[in-house]
Amino acid sequence: MTKRIALAYLADFPGMSRGAWRHPEVDPANATDLEAWEKLAQTAERGFFDLFFKADNPGTRNDGMETYAQSPFFFYPLEPLTLISALARSTEHIGLGGTVSTSFFEPANIARIFASLDHLTRGRAAWNIVTTANDYAARNFGLDRLPPRDQRYAQAKESYDIVTSYWDTWEDDAFIHDKTNARYFDPKRFHNTNFDGEFFKVQGGISIPRPPQGHPVIIQAGASETGKNFAAETAEIVFGTGSSFEGAKDFYDDLKERVTHFGRTADSMKILSGVEVVVGETEEAAREKQEEFEALVPIDIQVRVVSEDLETDLSDLPLDQPIPVERVPKESNHHQQYFNEIVALIEKGMTLREVAKTYKSSSTTIIGSPKQVADHMQEWIEGGAGDGFMVRGLWNPGNLEDFVDMVIPELQGRGMVRTAYEGRTLRENLGLARPANRHAK
Ligand SMILES: Cc1cc2nc3c(=O)[nH]c(=O)nc-3n(C[C@H](O)[C@H](O)[C@H](O)COP(=O)(O)O)c2cc1C
Repeated sequence: MTKRIALAYLADFPGMSRGAWRHPEVDPANATDLEAWEKLAQTAERGFFDLFFKADNPGTRNDGMETYAQSPFFFYPLEPLTLISALARSTEHIGLGGTVSTSFFEPANIARIFASLDHLTRGRAAWNIVTTANDYAARNFGLDRLPPRDQRYAQAKESYDIVTSYWDTWEDDAFIHDKTNARYFDPKRFHNTNFDGEFFKVQGGISIPRPPQGHPVIIQAGASETGKNFAAETAEIVFGTGSSFEGAKDFYDDLKERVTHFGRTADSMKILSGVEVVVGETEEAAREKQEEFEALVPIDIQVRVVSEDLETDLSDLPLDQPIPVERVPKESNHHQQYFNEIVALIEKGMTLREVAKTYKSSSTTIIGSPKQVADHMQEWIEGGAGDGFMVRGLWNPGNLEDFVDMVIPELQGRGMVRTAYEGRTLRENLGLARPANRHAK
């Protein structure tokens, strides 16, 4: 009996492949086009994905513009929550998730927006809690650089505590609409939040009835020690890390163990491994496609990405010589896991070009026929490296269409993907419990 898997789609136009926008199949104008987004989300829904997810960074790069002009990588041309509210009506079943940073948004705003989205989507909203891992965003909000990681996560925890408390402002049945006795709501079922922390001091509530899911689903992707502990305490979906089966399995085992230290069951958290899939009718067709897209990626963009994730500029180094280990900074304040992955490649003696081409930001690439892709996914899950996958869209909509048309039927045939949505809400589809209101008797 094969295991059912959870599936999320990391969606953006033109896609994660850094040269995708130049491919003849790809229309760069889709990035801000609602119809294109609607069709993309509907395609994911046709493939019975659990979650359609939009990442975000509340800033933009404003240096190295000559290099970046070649690729929109790391651009977020639409703000996720605005997009999700637009997609609420064009989709029916799929969960809709978006990133909001606790470093730059006040908890009351976060609570109100996600509570509203959960109502408008009838229980399909999910919040990806991030602390933001770059200084561009920090400078948009009056800081010179990001605060240290531990401080950002301490602030994130306070924000999470306040936001979830605000979602419990009203008990589920507080709005009684008793016309005879003129009771719109029952004041006994209203509860104030009083919070006095290091970063936030609030006293009040929100005027939005309790979300259909109780709390919108919490997503997290931390990979540092602090990040993993935060995930273990709060997250219900984790975008896992690991560019190899062993790395993903270590991450999975580690996090599932940590969860139990917070009085939670291992099953209350779904860990989704990052995967990029290039599928074709045959393995050869898939490889040709992958090479077509790979050939469009400028090497200096790749070097720039490595420099950013290693938190030091490597662009002065020759491309075809090993990177001197002395160039590795002592510690990381942005993405710990990405940093570690690059350091491991450097320690293998790879040249800058090889590192730039090999580095995958903690994701695995599967290239092959539908059967080969499904075999790989099945082995990954049965080997205990994940509860499912976060499929990173390489180019859109083509990469998703290929996956839905070719891989999904293969996975359905193995009983790994549903053939109809069984639940009404994202929680129900994922098998996650609806949290009780903390004040309800
Ligand atoms: C699939 C995936 C999606 C992510 N989306 C975002 C995002 O939208 N915005 C963001 O600032 N960080 C995003 N991150 C980064 C994480 O929030 C986190 O900062 C990173 O994994 C480093 O973890 P650490 O802070 O524990 O070192 C994402 C990470 C992954 C793996």
